[in-house]
Amino acid sequence: MTGRIPEETIQQIKQSLDITDVIGEYVQLKKQGRNFFGLCPFHQENSPSFSVSPDKQIYHCFGCGAGGNIFSFLTEVENISFQEAVSKLAERAGVTVEVPSFGGDGKKQPAVSEEKEQMLKAHELLAKFYHHLLMNTAEGQEALDYLEERGFSASDLETFQIGWSLPNWEFTTRFLEKRGFPLEWMEKAGLIIRKEDSGSYFDRFRGRIMFPLYDEKGSVVAFSGRSLHDEKPKYLNSPETPIFNKSRLLYNLHQARPAIRKQHRAILFEGFADVIAAARAGVETGIATMGTSLTEAHIQQIKRLANEVIICYDGDLAGMNAAFRASELLISSGCEVRIASVPDRMDPDDYIRRHGGEKFLHHVIETARTQMAFKMEYYKQGKNLQDEGQKLQYIEEVVTEIAKLKKAVERDYYLRQIAEQFSLSLEALKQQEKQVFFKERKKQHQHAPAPQATSVYQAPNKLYPAFQTAERRLIAYMLKSDDVAYKVKELLGGNTFNLDEHQAIFTYLLGFYEGGHEPDASAFITFLPNDTLRRLVSDIEMMMISKVASDEEIHDCIQQIFKHRKVLEIKVKKQQQISAEKAKDYLAAAKIAKEIMELKKELH
Ligand code: UTP
Ligand code: MN
Repeated sequence: MTGRIPEETIQQIKQSLDITDVIGEYVQLKKQGRNFFGLCPFHQENSPSFSVSPDKQIYHCFGCGAGGNIFSFLTEVENISFQEAVSKLAERAGVTVEVPSFGGDGKKQPAVSEEKEQMLKAHELLAKFYHHLLMNTAEGQEALDYLEERGFSASDLETFQIGWSLPNWEFTTRFLEKRGFPLEWMEKAGLIIRKEDSGSYFDRFRGRIMFPLYDEKGSVVAFSGRSLHDEKPKYLNSPETPIFNKSRLLYNLHQARPAIRKQHRAILFEGFADVIAAARAGVETGIATMGTSLTEAHIQQIKRLANEVIICYDGDLAGMNAAFRASELLISSGCEVRIASVPDRMDPDDYIRRHGGEKFLHHVIETARTQMAFKMEYYKQGKNLQDEGQKLQYIEEVVTEIAKLKKAVERDYYLRQIAEQFSLSLEALKQQEKQVFFKERKKQHQHAPAPQATSVYQAPNKLYPAFQTAERRLIAYMLKSDDVAYKVKELLGGNTFNLDEHQAIFTYLLGFYEGGHEPDASAFITFLPNDTLRRLVSDIEMMMISKVASDEEIHDCIQQIFKHRKVLEIKVKKQQQISAEKAKDYLAAAKIAKEIMELKKELH
């Protein structure tokens, strides 16, 4: 299955890389015992069931069954071919590798369709070209002046590949046409628009400052174009296309990812101009949604990298409302959240321009508040607290929020604040908080099923039938030792494992050892021909606590296997017996009954 890439190269790459580093780029891992755990990148989950074993150099998800080694991980997570995964990892490991060229062997399936490939290509080219127009041409000068005036540095323009589209109806269309891009595809990619009547095309983005939008892999998949004067809309975005999903994309994630993972923290902005301004101030972990509100898809991506999110939305009422909503969503999916407030209704970009990056870091980001502290401010909006009625309403709203807090110390802390602020008796407030708490709990019990256990992950001890456990255990032992594998072969005689997949693994494993390989589960995984088997091997490796096998234990396992065969045989015979009786062939039925007796005797 390794195609034309030599075995030694694969080995070399594997030996130079550690699986926890490779996976750590995509998944935030926490050490627990010998293994690492994190949120599985292959399915949506809120508590970690994805485990990585540095000893075995394999990963396995107890939730969805995904599993394998570094090569299969990259193949799946990046949606690329095995060859591409090898060449990426080789580069990382500093190993040179001859990879068969694309399409060269005629068999290779492209990872993305031709259409998508062309769309990506066009975006990449255009981003470069728009950037060139901005930086180096007279046509781009006015936009460049504007950006500089707004505080964009030359390195910002470079890092974020900001560009300029000419105020021309057909410039981009011709640019693409000349380079042979099929225009129907370019229309589908949102770059040009088809005229209803004549069927000809014109440019979507004209005379706008162009911000390329990158997906998580760093490919340009869309643009957002800002008007230079006051044309509406202020920002014109690419529509949803096969390569651009607005409710998934996080601006700057591809560049911020390593820093987010390292700091276990992301800073979430409302606008991408804020991300850029904050980056100038030294914020490496800034990301933004694309003018849409935060979705579950955004949150899942963030959670794979970080456990804390600082929300730094605009300081106006709309920003506070959005921050409120985003914080609730993030907290309910298990993130720690703080909210940074920008004073005077400014947005972060305005603030940085007015007060500088230092102040932004120290007075805005570092003083980010807990969600409860934020809510205490939030509920003050639009209320006159001198008015007795409005004051009581405020207190009730805040106490209701306090009652939702899980920790008694926290509840106590905030109740004290309220008591102090409004000169109320703490006892009375506590009383009120309790009432709210029981009322809410009653409501919840009526609606919700039993509370879910979360937090620390425990590998589920799946219950398999005895024979299956025996087969799994044997495989675990055989993965550790070729001697055991040969011994099992001998003991089985001509017989096979009861489960076809187990038998397949066994056969491949013998082939693996006979080919001169040492026991090495991770290497063996590469050797296997398909996903089902790879997943199964990683599952067995992770689940089985395999010491050295004693002869006695191996014999026991083999016995279980044989026993199950007999049980199956008995089942078959019982069916035959029933058929014979139905056919009134009593002689045959009696004979079968005797055979069943024999088999049952052997079982005990
Ligand atoms: P803002 O209106 O807050 O923009 O929109 P901004 O970041 O302050 O931009 P400047 O400083 O005026 O240049 C926040 C986000 O909402 C989306 C964009 O993604 C923007 O970053 N948006 C805004 C649109 O998609 N379309 C619009 O017309 C306006
Ligand atoms: Mn702004």
